[in-house]
Amino acid sequence: DPRVRPGSSVSLVAMPGAGKSTAGRHLAAALGWRFVDADVEIEQRIGMSIRAYFEREGEQAFRDLEQQVIAELVQIRPPIVLATGGGSVLREANRRALRENSVVVYLRASPEELFRRLRHDTQRPLLQVADPLRKLRELYRDRDAFYRETAHFVIETGRPSVPTLVNMILMQL
Ligand code: S3P
Repeated sequence: DPRVRPGSSVSLVAMPGAGKSTAGRHLAAALGWRFVDADVEIEQRIGMSIRAYFEREGEQAFRDLEQQVIAELVQIRPPIVLATGGGSVLREANRRALRENSVVVYLRASPEELFRRLRHDTQRPLLQVADPLRKLRELYRDRDAFYRETAHFVIETGRPSVPTLVNMILMQL
């Protein structure tokens, strides 16, 4: 993509549970770059968990904050590896900011695989529902096209080891 300049950061977009933070941390180590997790950055700013913030202020307030944080993080130099929250691609401003300022990788995984990894999760507000598998299928249906639109390339995660996943990403950069 001609809009991506050399020296760009690498951003990971994907559903919750796809491995953005784990793969991102290892990828950053392999590149010798700093790793930044947008959700952790947000939690540091608000001084509480995202789950607590959702409960107090609602999802839209969280999305506003997320948009502001992403706009800042894509500008960081020297380049970083950025793990985004799974819902960041819902906003067009985020899709554009990520795509124009970083090399974006979509770590695709099926809702069934995500469920296998997240069924005991208590931290993700959107998954604290009676039927999380159904919720993951809905989120996937609503978002897959946005992840694809934002990403410069897609990595099919399946169940590769972390080193395999990192090598798959490195080969594309
Ligand atoms: C969200 C995913 C979470 C976090 C928030 C909302 C989403 O990040 O940003 O709970 O809408 O999918 P992860 O993708 O890291 O779980």
